Amino acid sequence: MLAAMTQTTPNTLAGQVALVTGANTGIGRVTARELARRGAHVFIACRSAQRAQPVVDEIRAATGSDKIELLSLDLGNLASVRACAQAFLARELPLHLLINNAGIAGAKGSSTSGFELAFGVNHVGHFLLTQLLLDCLKHSAPARIVTVSSQAHYRAPGIDWDAVRQPTRSATGLPEYGVSKLANALFSAELGRRLAGSGVSTYALHPGVVASDVWRSVPWPFRSLMKLAMISTEEGAATTLHCATSGDVAQETGLYYDKCRVKQPSRLAQDPALAAELWKRSEAWVR
Ligand SMILES: NC(=O)c1ccc[n+]([C@@H]2O[C@H](COP(=O)([O-])OP(=O)(O)OC[C@H]3O[C@@H](n4cnc5c(N)ncnc54)[C@H](OP(=O)(O)O)[C@@H]3O)[C@@H](O)[C@H]2O)c1
Repeated sequence: MLAAMTQTTPNTLAGQVALVTGANTGIGRVTARELARRGAHVFIACRSAQRAQPVVDEIRAATGSDKIELLSLDLGNLASVRACAQAFLARELPLHLLINNAGIAGAKGSSTSGFELAFGVNHVGHFLLTQLLLDCLKHSAPARIVTVSSQAHYRAPGIDWDAVRQPTRSATGLPEYGVSKLANALFSAELGRRLAGSGVSTYALHPGVVASDVWRSVPWPFRSLMKLAMISTEEGAATTLHCATSGDVAQETGLYYDKCRVKQPSRLAQDPALAAELWKRSEAWVR
């Protein structure tokens, strides 16, 4: 599907500006490259310049575009999120596509800003980044905000407001990952409601089960075996690119996608009261 999209949509994003978080590897790296291939000016926001600069060079070489730039961003550190947004806004460019892609799974501990690690990076960091860039996105409308959630959100039993302020409790970190991905889906839906009529649309998605670095915490022999059954990062970027670029979804907002199609997220992910509560608490946390 990705190959077909690449061949049929050359330079459709000329003049558009995109920011992709966590684009130094995995799904984000393919997303950034494909947006650049279609003519977008792409900012890749990553926590390690050492890991990201070779990807900037690779995308420049693959696309022939010099409009690929690096921003420093550690989503677990809200001061870093603010600095990243400031650095982008200082350029006085429009922003048409914000891709909230970065994520961690199976890691344990607390984020620098004191949240459960997965929740702090996957939800709170992206919540603040999006807030800080929202006026720019509105002024650049039509614009889209794509948030990479996961089917892991279906297993989340809800959000324990105390637990998300504590270090990871489970042995695997995976229950907490599911909660963070429920938060991604709720955030995208609530943002869609709040942005109605603004020309900025929101999309949440499951990318598929993808053989990326996200499985780095799984011990080696299991990791290699698991990856055999997974789709490639090229295929894993297809739904993100669909949500970010397809004319078919231009009039949709606040929905959840899987395999480039709308899908019902979990009952909890569709709960407007839970989404409003998460929004209210997230605003207070990042104040
Ligand atoms: N792979 C799957 O099967 C799968 C399934 C469902 C959903 N997803 C979601 O897809 C998205 C992309 O994941 P992926 O599979 O491409 O994983 P990946 O290869 O591990 O890439 C994750 C990216 O997030 C970045 N990141 C992690 N912590 C960060 C932080 N504190 N600040 C800034 N960036 C940070 C990583 O940077 P470093 O290289 O510096 O660590 C990396 O660039 C994630 O949101 C993930 O939850 C993946």
